[in-house]
Amino acid sequence: MYEQRFDKRAFDELRPMEAETGIIANANGSARFRIGNTEAIAAVYGPQEVKPKHLEKVDRGLIVCKYDMMPFSVPDRAKPGFDRRDMEISDVITNALNRAVLLEEFPRSMIDVRVYVSQADAGTRCASLTAASMACADAGLPMRDLVAAVAAGKIGDSICLDLTKEEEDFHEGGATDVPIAFLPSKNEIVLLQLDGKVSREDLKKIVEIGKLGAHKIYELEKKALRRRFSNES
Ligand code: CDP
Repeated sequence: MYEQRFDKRAFDELRPMEAETGIIANANGSARFRIGNTEAIAAVYGPQEVKPKHLEKVDRGLIVCKYDMMPFSVPDRAKPGFDRRDMEISDVITNALNRAVLLEEFPRSMIDVRVYVSQADAGTRCASLTAASMACADAGLPMRDLVAAVAAGKIGDSICLDLTKEEEDFHEGGATDVPIAFLPSKNEIVLLQLDGKVSREDLKKIVEIGKLGAHKIYELEKKALRRRFSNES
């Protein structure tokens, strides 16, 4: 049973969030997204020449994304280097961005996306994807939509939005955790992973609660971008 969340949030409540863009002077686009004690910083370079050249595509651009955790982002000090988890997360972020950015407008070019987690308290792939999509928009890349991502899941009998690390680890064998990303205005899911076991009915509920959360994140992303571009004019 999990009747009261550790941080007293309602089951469908997100952690407090912050979003800003244009935080890195030497990138074409950049963004920071914080949700509770999870924070990601993203930088976008390009469109630029494809390197190595053999990856070039004649009819569309290429997104190359790298996710990494800063050593001080977790209690145990994250090991330096690119491990299997970093690789997997980089891939799922790339796949989601491929659906969001209009790559056909950049044949023979590459967009380099770097995402760094400065604080981790679960949900880092979602926070990273949200930050990366804001950074792409900040770089002026034409997009079908922003990506808004959040994890939802089940702890005991309760369907929960935006799990913390403490919640993920709460149950024996861990909670069920489902990172989800949407293109909200298209009502398209661009990332859905499942860690744990869940019934079909519960999965539907988890996706629904995730969608509600993603729409709130989407509003914050748009606000951050509007703030940035109204400041510039
Ligand atoms: O971060 P996300 O939930 O997307 O992915 P995960 O692989 O399920 O990791 C869950 C959480 O474990 C992270 O957000 C961190 O809080 C924690 N973690 C850690 O403490 N040390 C690591 N080397 C990796 C993850």
